[in-house]
Amino acid sequence: MRPARPVYIAAQAITPFIGKGNPHFIAPGHPEYGKRDNPTLEEHLCTVVRKLLDDHGIDPSLIQRGFVGNFAGELFSKQGHLGAMVARADARLASKGFTRVEAACASGGVGLVGAIEAIQAGFDVVLVVGAEVQTTVRAREGADYLARAAHYATERPIDDFTFPALLARRAKAYKETYGLTDRDLAHFTVKAYSNANRNPLAHMHAVKITLEQAATAGDHNPQILQNPELKPHLKVSDCSQVSDGAAAVLLASEAGLQKLGRRKADCVQVRAYGFCTNPLGQVQNLLRFDTTAAAVAEALRDAGCTPQDVQVAEVHDCFTIAELLMYEAIGWAEQGKGIELLLSGRTSLEGDLPVNTGGGLLGFGHPVGATGVKQAAEIYRQMKGLCGDYQIPRELHTGLTVNMGGDDRTVVALVLENCTV
Ligand code: CAA
Repeated sequence: MRPARPVYIAAQAITPFIGKGNPHFIAPGHPEYGKRDNPTLEEHLCTVVRKLLDDHGIDPSLIQRGFVGNFAGELFSKQGHLGAMVARADARLASKGFTRVEAACASGGVGLVGAIEAIQAGFDVVLVVGAEVQTTVRAREGADYLARAAHYATERPIDDFTFPALLARRAKAYKETYGLTDRDLAHFTVKAYSNANRNPLAHMHAVKITLEQAATAGDHNPQILQNPELKPHLKVSDCSQVSDGAAAVLLASEAGLQKLGRRKADCVQVRAYGFCTNPLGQVQNLLRFDTTAAAVAEALRDAGCTPQDVQVAEVHDCFTIAELLMYEAIGWAEQGKGIELLLSGRTSLEGDLPVNTGGGLLGFGHPVGATGVKQAAEIYRQMKGLCGDYQIPRELHTGLTVNMGGDDRTVVALVLENCTV
């Protein structure tokens, strides 16, 4: 869909993404353990909204609607009704219409769709916030919560770590068909962590990994699945992180930009978007992300672009195999050849098609409800030169985000264009 009323990203903010392995995450062994707690879901939500308002000098009374992407606040934090929670961030947000949006790991992306469509309905200034806190329970219990993004009745029995298992199932099928190796997949981890090492907001900012470490299973990199057929096809280093964090973007129409006093040159335009869902538990082809392909094709077609026009992208690398399948679904590589694109170096920070420049879900982290919003904020930050040590040193005109919920069941793709005047 190409918005009939132009839509602009006028402002953005991201909190640090934290969790196990991040020096700011309070866990046993941390000097402040027992003295201070990690931020709650409410604190992440309110912090990111205040940061967006303060960093860009936004008057909150101009915001008319709000969407909050969150997957499982009730389970991890015993807190729902998050639309009304955001109003606690600033007294001037009182009596606005805010609602929570849930679409598993695409909650943030679907929140963006809600905001774009609210602008088509006539609103001029709409806030989108995404947040998740997942570190309140052990990883195994969290995996059971996340399994509710799959078809729980039929897919939960595959393994306690249901999502890692669903993607290991794809890695197994792909390896058996195309001869992909663990070492090939390890290159995705190395790219992600190396980008994250340059990004102070990233969960894995301080964690280094070599190709040898990522390619080899062992006590330092265990195969965590119990399902015997899938166990050999997934190591911890193939997995995105269990992260806490939040992201926010402010969308506006042209009239909204005027009210906000924002120049177009300070904005990024949402050229077009694709939004597709397919039935839970009914993946047709393990070798392809068909829903992703449909959503991206819709977004690119309506933007008048080809896959080759994209100059920077944020794709949903919830597991290493997912980034590979994204390359093929987007149309950057033929089926079976996605690994060649990665190994060519084109998608590294130094390449001509940098992907997941801040570390992606593997390195930046994956607070699931925040991820789709963070992707849009990241493209904005790259286009506006705000990425510090991982800034791409050239002008960027066209960007792509791809946010996936479940095993390729809900996908939102955005084509974003830098406004230079
Ligand atoms: N050998 C064998 N097994 C071992 C082991 C070893 N040496 N060391 C650990 N394990 C196993 C243990 O069974 C342990 O479980 P217990 O706690 O019951 O003992 C399990 O691994 C996990 O160990 P940890 O808790 O120490 O692991 P961790 O905290 O380092 O987390 C991770 C690692 C489990 C991979 C975690 O990072 C994770 O779950 N990542 C994936 C998160 C995820 O699935 N996100 C959703 C993505 S899907 C998506 O994006 C779409 C959507 O809509 C959901």
